[in-house]
Amino acid sequence: MVTVPVLVSGDGDIKDPKFAIHVGPVDTLLPVAVDLEKSKEVFGDLCSKCHSLKRPLGKTKDQAGWKKTVDRMNKNSKKRFGKGISTPNQRMIVNYLAAKNTFEATCSKCHALSRPLGKTKNRAAWERTVKRMSKNHKAKFGKILPDDVQANIVGYLVESAGK
Ligand code: HEC
Ligand code: HEC
Repeated sequence: MVTVPVLVSGDGDIKDPKFAIHVGPVDTLLPVAVDLEKSKEVFGDLCSKCHSLKRPLGKTKDQAGWKKTVDRMNKNSKKRFGKGISTPNQRMIVNYLAAKNTFEATCSKCHALSRPLGKTKNRAAWERTVKRMSKNHKAKFGKILPDDVQANIVGYLVESAGK
């Protein structure tokens, strides 16, 4: 199991410290250790029951947008199976999809996503690459990539293109 730090926000409604815990607005991001590998597994298991994974994988939403969708899917599950999606599982799915979309939106600005996805690197190497890309971003767009954005992207890359 690989636990990677990803910046997420929470509602304070989960007791497991791994998924905890920040009471505050959705756009307040804090560093929390999240197991993105597990999150991807949970996403694959629970989000393929009624439709293909292409449905969520083809959409781009921010964290608040995913929260709303997953909340609706929880209700769809209750209606159809008599049982909803647990809050920790909802949280993992939202984190996974938000990290994926952050990577896609940020790292497609100057070159194809196949550039990073065609490589495999360990965590330290991805951190270095993303830092360098942040400098490239500053040179081209005048702004570095914020820490939370970098952490989400590193987390996603360690999970999808790690070693
Ligand atoms: C119980 C069946 C069921 C499960 C389980 C389910 N879905 Fe859905 N999903 C639906 C139905 C029905 C629709 C179309 C109506 C709607 O949007 O609520 C839909 C539509 C969608 C859409 C398109 C609409 C939008 O808001 O963008 C997305 C994305 C989506 N689902 C993602 C997910 C994710 C992520 C999960 C896992 C948490 C999931 N679904 C699990 C039944 C389900
Ligand atoms: C502002 C433009 C820009 C953005 C945004 C950008 N890149 Fe790059 N990327 C470049 C340039 C220019 C190169 C070639 C020079 C270099 O490696 O710095 C490159 C090369 C790469 C390489 C090949 C070199 C290596 O180290 O393996 C990878 C992988 C990569 N980028 C990943 C990413 C990731 C991940 C992101 C999102 C965080 C990203 N890029 C965002 C401009 C950008």
